[in-house]
Order: sequence, then structure tokens, then C-alpha cells
Amino acid sequence: GLLDQKIKAKGKVYLGSALDPNTFNDGAVRPVAISGDFGAFTPENSGKWDTTEPARGVFNFTNLDALVNFATSNGKIVRGHTLVWHQQLPAWVQAIRDSNTLTQVIQNHIATEVGRYRGRIFAWDVVNEIFNDNGTFRTSVFFNLLGENFVDIAFRAARAADPNAKLYINDFNLDGPGPKIDALIALVGRLKSRGVPIDGIGSQSHLILGQVGGVAGQLPRLAATGLQVALTELDIRIQSPVTTQKLQQQQNDFNTVARACISVPNCVGITVWGISDKNSFVDSTFPGFTAPLLFDRNLQRKPAYNGVDAAFS
Ligand code: G3I
Repeated sequence: GLLDQKIKAKGKVYLGSALDPNTFNDGAVRPVAISGDFGAFTPENSGKWDTTEPARGVFNFTNLDALVNFATSNGKIVRGHTLVWHQQLPAWVQAIRDSNTLTQVIQNHIATEVGRYRGRIFAWDVVNEIFNDNGTFRTSVFFNLLGENFVDIAFRAARAADPNAKLYINDFNLDGPGPKIDALIALVGRLKSRGVPIDGIGSQSHLILGQVGGVAGQLPRLAATGLQVALTELDIRIQSPVTTQKLQQQQNDFNTVARACISVPNCVGITVWGISDKNSFVDSTFPGFTAPLLFDRNLQRKPAYNGVDAAFS
């Protein structure tokens, strides 16, 4: 069997990937995307605020419609990404200066985007990357004007727009101990005590070769909140030059991370942040690092693929 078929046999919901029209319309990527290796897609960029509402009340769902239709017509589920994020956020939102306007803008954005796909999205990343590594809230127009209440507003709006979608808080650097994961777990406790509708925690898992050992320790802590958890943007980047030995290490690392999800009952799935190394964000974002995914630039399976396969077997 292929990877998504195998993870389902382990009782999980999906193995997924980030995807968008620019990648699924690539004739080399497309057959791998529709294969049994992947059962879920996350729009890599097409669901973000600067794309979907570039001006107030002016919506553009061309690319997100295409991604959702590609997924569902091929029998895959969709993780929506992402509703409230400080990046890829249009200047008109960042320029808002009063809390009532911002509240209405958040509510309308979420009602429109989530409502459009009601019943067709498995999970939404409702808030993304809202903490600093030291555990304080990240500075953003949302936190500056509304304080922590922006989180409540966003989750309540998302639940109203699609009662069946699982609603996630999503962040990176949750794969090691420290103030950031502590703060996130504490926030989840406060949200639950206030009756805010939250269902899941996404641990992005943008990892570095040889530095993946923390996942197995932290994932059970996230799951102990009682929410479902998922690895939402997994990749393991290699410092150039790529060698046979490093690809072997990457196989071991992917195996270690995949097994961590398998052994946590609340971990519902794993999304890798792209299919082919040729399309990864890593090369441009982390100069000197490359090749973080399961398929190489020619869409051939890497040793990393076998590491995941072994974890699911
Ligand atoms: O669409 C424009 C295109 O018109 C223009 O010609 C080109 C020139 O640079 O840029 C294109 O936009 C790029 C976009 O990806 C689509 O390819 C942006 O510059 C580029 O910044 C953007 O990068 C994305 C990044 O988020 C933005 O912050 C990456 O593809 C995407 O993988 C990355 O994903 C994030 C998750 O959403 C959240 N967690 C971290 C993760 C990695 O940064």
C-alpha cells in the first residue's frame, strides 16, 4: 500500500501535503498528489488573508476553490489554512486602529471564507503563530487592539460558520520544551474554561536534520489537553551539500517523527509541507538548507519516504 493507505490502517485519518494550483497543475507533481500516498491537502498559500480578501469586503476564492475542488474530486480531505495570521495579512487590516472595526472585520472574514466551504473542510487553522518563543503573545494588530480576546472571537466565528470543521490553533517550535509550548497549553486551558470552541492543536514541525528528538516528548503533552493534535507542516531540512549519509539520517528522522504521531492516540494525522523538494519554501527561506521532503526534484521517492513507510508498517 501507499502512505495514506498505511496510516489509515494504523487508525489515523490522513497523511497529507501542502498543495496549491501552481503545484497540482505541474504534470510531474499531479500523479503523486492523486496517488494513495496522500489523503489530505492544505492550501499552501491560497487560503491566506492577502489572497482571499485583498481589500475590505472584496473576496477572491479562485485558487482556494481550485484547491478544494481538486482535493474533493480526487477523494481527499482538506485542512483549511489559515484565518488569523500576522503574515500575508493585507495592509488594510494592519491599518485598522479601533477594536470594534477589527472585530467586525475578523468576523466577516471568517464567516465568508469558512462559510463558503461549510461541510467540505475537515479542519481549519483558525489562529496561526500567535506566540513568541518566550511564551508572550506576538505583537500584531489583532493582539494590540483586542488582547487575547481576538482568539475567542476567531474561534467562535469559525464554529458559527461551519459547526462540523475541527478548529485548530497552529504554531511552530512546539517540538521542544520551553515557554512557548507552556504558554500554548495554558491558553488552551483558558479557552476551554471560557467555553471557546477549540478542537485541535497543530504542531507545524519545520525541523532540522538530526534535531527531531523533542517531538516524541512534546506531542503527548499537547494531546494531554484532551484536544486532537496533528503535525501540520512537517519537513526536515538538510544543510547543503546533500550527501548519501544525510539522506540516510533524514530517513531515520522522518521515521522517528512519524512514529511519534502513531504512538499518540489523539494524533489524527501528518501533513508534510509540500510534495517535491523542487517546490519547498525552505530553499528561499533558509539559505544553505534544502531537500526537506519525501520526494526529490524529479518526483522520485527519497530514503525519507521509506522512513515514513516503515513507521506506518
Ligand atoms: O504569488 C507571488 C507571485 O505573484 C510573485 O511573483 C512572487 C515573487 O516573490 O511571489 C509570490 O508569492 C509568494 C508566495 O509564497 C506564493 O509562492 C511569496 O513571495 C512568498 O513569500 C510565499 O511564501 C509562502 C510563505 O508561507 C509566506 O509566509 C510559502 O510559499 C509557504 O510555504 C509558507 O508557508 C508557511 C505557513 O503558511 C505557516 N507556517 C510557516 C510556513 C513556512 O514559512
